[in-house]
Amino acid sequence: MDSTVLTPLTARRGGPLQGRSRVPGDKSISHRALILGALTVGESTVAGLLEGEDVLHTAAAMRALGAKLDRGADGLWRIHGVGVGGFAQPAGPLDFGNSGTGCRLALGAVAGNAVTATFIGDASLSSRPMRRVLDPLERMGARVLDAAEGGRLPLTLKGAAEPIPIVYEPPVASAQLKSAVLLAGLAAPGETTVIEAEATRDHTERMLKHFGAKIVSKPHGEHGRRIVLQGQPELEPADVVVPADPSSAAFPMVAALLVPGSDLILDAVMTNPSRTGLISTLREMGANIEAVAKRDDGGEEVADLRVRASALKGVEVPAERAPSMIDEYPILAVAASLAQGATRMRGLKELRVKESDRLEATAAMLRANGVAVEIEGDDLIVQGKGSVAGGAEVKTHMDHRIAMAALVMGLASEQPLRIDDSAFIATSFPGFVELMRGLGADLS
Ligand code: S3P
Repeated sequence: MDSTVLTPLTARRGGPLQGRSRVPGDKSISHRALILGALTVGESTVAGLLEGEDVLHTAAAMRALGAKLDRGADGLWRIHGVGVGGFAQPAGPLDFGNSGTGCRLALGAVAGNAVTATFIGDASLSSRPMRRVLDPLERMGARVLDAAEGGRLPLTLKGAAEPIPIVYEPPVASAQLKSAVLLAGLAAPGETTVIEAEATRDHTERMLKHFGAKIVSKPHGEHGRRIVLQGQPELEPADVVVPADPSSAAFPMVAALLVPGSDLILDAVMTNPSRTGLISTLREMGANIEAVAKRDDGGEEVADLRVRASALKGVEVPAERAPSMIDEYPILAVAASLAQGATRMRGLKELRVKESDRLEATAAMLRANGVAVEIEGDDLIVQGKGSVAGGAEVKTHMDHRIAMAALVMGLASEQPLRIDDSAFIATSFPGFVELMRGLGADLS
């Protein structure tokens, strides 16, 4: 993406949001479906893939590593993979754009193959920590041939011809880190074990099982999981159905809660319990969110969510809930601003290393628009007054979620609110502006 040309956008208060919509496919599942399909001999298919820029970068990387990926006119993706350990030497650098997930999962996958690949990305991705992933991958036999300061991108990784299985306890709660080790462990003989102190989203484990790998996940301690993967499986081709992304649904959901008179239905939103922290928190705040038709779709729980405008009150959000809503704090902070009373969100250290320093970017977004907000250590405290002045321009820092959260705030604030750049929304939520306008939002 050309980050030198900015595309500002303004949100204004208007009538209620109404209607029925389906947000695009889940980003986490989309990346994983492409990577596992690429590691499987035979044809796998993916329906409902998120065709956002982040995921398309992963698709291009899998092609560069030797897999065949085609999109049918019907939107179905067909993948012919190369098998575990079967990646080909890529001809050029693998470009992951803005995507930490694509990059870190691919680092894990490449680590278990006897190829050398250079990983590059945009300015945001190039500033994000990669050492956390490289440390366990080096223990598994991969070698970092070259990297920018602190192990950042651009970096060149030489995968292991004979990867070593490890027992790994991630120092931070990160599904990307867990997944990178499991993907590298696919090519290692014997058992690769990941012991999480705080359970994170479990899409990699579910999907590995779906592709025929032997993987067992059991509770560990109060909030954790112990995951054991048998290496060197013959993965079997599989068909993946990608449910609607709860992290994208969060934006129209909160908009409907905040804009008076709103009443809308969001179809087939994934309700995997490792992703529903925001819905639990909003309900504690008094939100009227009803799961209309709960069902199972392609191995994941989904539901249609009916959301009606609600008077919200401030709450305490415990630190242990963070992994299940890690991407939702900017939009929760918007909801908290329009609630009555203080909301304290605890344990947000990981927000500092997202697409932007999201803790600072969220606080700055609120402050500029007249909301009283403090950062205390790793906590964010928002003083809700039931209304927001608005009127300021928000700096989005190449961060799609700051951009969408700010626009939702503008739909409920007294004065119009402008964001400096809407371009990065396309990394995770192509069609966001059109979908919101279709529900009645004033975005121009
Ligand atoms: C993701 C994990 C989270 C999340 C990201 C997607 C994944 O990152 O923020 O948007 O698909 O595994 P961390 O694992 O770094 O917390």
